Amino acid sequence: MTTTIAERTRRIAERAARTTRTEPDATPLEQPTHREEVRRELAAYAARVRVTDLVREHGSPLFVLDVDRVTTQLLALRRELPGVQIHFATKSLPHPAVIRAVDAFGATFEVASRGEIDLLEREGVAIEQCLHTHPVKTVADITGAYLRGIRTFVVDSHSEVGKFRGLPADVAVLVRLSFPNPAVTCDLSSKFGVAPEEADALVAHCLRAGLRVAGFTFHVGSQTVSARPWMRAIHRTLGLMRRLEHAHGIRFDTLDIGGGFPIAYDEPVPAFADLARGIRSALAAAPSRYRILVEPGRFVSAPAMMLATRVVGTTERADGAWAYLDDGVYGAYSNIPSEQTHPLVFAAAELDAQPVREPERARVERRLRARRHRPVTLAGPTCDSLDVIARDMPLPTLRAGDLLVSPMMGAYTLATATGFNGFAPTPVVVVPA
Ligand SMILES: Cc1ncc(COP(=O)(O)O)c(C=O)c1O
Repeated sequence: MTTTIAERTRRIAERAARTTRTEPDATPLEQPTHREEVRRELAAYAARVRVTDLVREHGSPLFVLDVDRVTTQLLALRRELPGVQIHFATKSLPHPAVIRAVDAFGATFEVASRGEIDLLEREGVAIEQCLHTHPVKTVADITGAYLRGIRTFVVDSHSEVGKFRGLPADVAVLVRLSFPNPAVTCDLSSKFGVAPEEADALVAHCLRAGLRVAGFTFHVGSQTVSARPWMRAIHRTLGLMRRLEHAHGIRFDTLDIGGGFPIAYDEPVPAFADLARGIRSALAAAPSRYRILVEPGRFVSAPAMMLATRVVGTTERADGAWAYLDDGVYGAYSNIPSEQTHPLVFAAAELDAQPVREPERARVERRLRARRHRPVTLAGPTCDSLDVIARDMPLPTLRAGDLLVSPMMGAYTLATATGFNGFAPTPVVVVPA
């Protein structure tokens, strides 16, 4: 029997509501560490999707892509930021199954290239709903995107404006503002965006060129763990919009607050509900006629993929134990150099799902075994010394053939991997199948 998308979304929402309640086995005496909390959740999840069976069937390394998790994250965004239009950042995980899940949910997309539009078109996405966010494009990029349906583009410089000459009047632009955020490792404000105090001149230039300015966009930096940068940027942008509407006698209709919502890798991050509360309070000052847009990438895609890798070899070196894996920073772990993330790595042995009935002694022994950790350096397979995934990762003693698992591996991993040294791209298996 087939289930409708609506039924499936409702079931995922119910499951998410159940799992956000306090776990009954968390004792008040023993506060589990973040790693331990992630391990418990991953153990239950790995058992549910049968990660060892998947690796047996499909080989290693392997990405396990769970499209229901895409829906769970989109539900959280819709619940905490009601009325906000979601434009998934395609670049973070450009996989057809993810595109279909986002589209089926009723969200749309942010794109930055011809290749991303190709992917969305192949999956039957309504391109006219999408935003083209690249601030620097060729005339061919712009006309090609227009002919395929894109109507809203982004500009952040005078030189970009002339490239829209000759396009019909249904084209509009968002002006990208730059709000530096030195607190994040992925500050996106230096390469793109105009300073708010220079925005007036750019808007005036667009208007002189006959280009409609729909509003503004910004990105406060990827993996931003406080609402404050959004609140400051929203406050500043709304003030600017009010002033420019008055000065130029125009009406804006769009405020795009970008992506940047954080994910817990090796450290906890504030609950999304808390972050969203701050953002909602800042957005309350926006005129009701404004469409508010978000462009989440990592928040939607990171939880959707888990990575399974195998140990190829181990050795003791002067600085301690090393284990060499069949995937590394030029492959699935490309989020380490490109995004400065620190994914957790677990031995599959630490994740054995707890049998329903387990004698007390076996339970204690299993837990003790799993706790006997020692620091190990995890290296990838390429022949250069940059390919190090983690140093001093606490893991049980590893042997060649052991399976390792990393959660939260959907964002900027598959998308940024290279084929350096001849290693093939990490295959993806989609669950539920
Ligand atoms: C224009 C734009 N929007 C959205 C995103 C997604 O950001 P994040 O993955 O931090 O949500 C990016 C990331 O680079 C971006 O450049």
